[in-house]
Amino acid sequence: MYQDITEAAAFIRQRITREPLIGMITGTGLADVTHAMEVDGSIPYEQIPHFPESTVAGHAGILVSGTIAGKPILAMQGRLHIYEGYTATEITFPVRVMATLGVKYLFVCSAAGGLNPEFAPGELMLLTDHINLTGGNPLIGRNLEEFGPRFPDMTSAYDKDLIAFAKQKAIEEGINLNQGVYVGITGPSLETPAETRFLRTIGADAVGMSTVNEVIVAVHSGLKVLAIVAITNINIPDRMAGTSIEQVIATARNASPSLARLLTRIIEDLER
Ligand code: HPA
Repeated sequence: MYQDITEAAAFIRQRITREPLIGMITGTGLADVTHAMEVDGSIPYEQIPHFPESTVAGHAGILVSGTIAGKPILAMQGRLHIYEGYTATEITFPVRVMATLGVKYLFVCSAAGGLNPEFAPGELMLLTDHINLTGGNPLIGRNLEEFGPRFPDMTSAYDKDLIAFAKQKAIEEGINLNQGVYVGITGPSLETPAETRFLRTIGADAVGMSTVNEVIVAVHSGLKVLAIVAITNINIPDRMAGTSIEQVIATARNASPSLARLLTRIIEDLER
């Protein structure tokens, strides 16, 4: 496993011009986030040794390198999901590779269903915490001592300074930024009304099929994590409205420019 990671990292290192500071994972319909970059290279996942392939609509499967405000970034355009048949460890392989390449920050974006009735579709939510209900954990197996300890602390998985910084930038930019707890499930089926009630009851504000495992691996690897989701639909158990991937993609696309603007402002003023 560790050797696979270092081989993938070595392959990428030869194709990028400088050591990346920030790793980014963009989600469904959120490509604008990488359009804000000055791109200097891109590598399809299938060319990278040991990299899993991206199989879902709306996920390109390209690793893009470039800069925002002169800060070097490595962005995954398209992520991997457990529902594609991968394990939690496999979908987080790219996070290990990013950490090996020198990334210090991981910015994670995704589409999510809103559980907090005060949210509206198209709004953004900053993650303050998460609940992992994906039924697994990417750290199961022999601990990769090269990255972190057997039992990583998760009391501040989402970096407190980055949270405060993101809130400040959102105010400066006039962007409505909710905050809350994200619950990760595997999908691909969407939630029943009873599951939705359960997820709200256990303390979640938004639900989605990604993010939590990536964050666990990032924290284990010592990266500082910032995660923001686009709320694409609102799930209220007593009046569940159906949702479709088309609706999720369209609403995420609407939210994408303000997310890109917010991340750009954060990156511009981020200390190295
Ligand atoms: N549930 C789970 N994942 C999602 C949803 C949802 O309602 N919307 C976007 N991703």
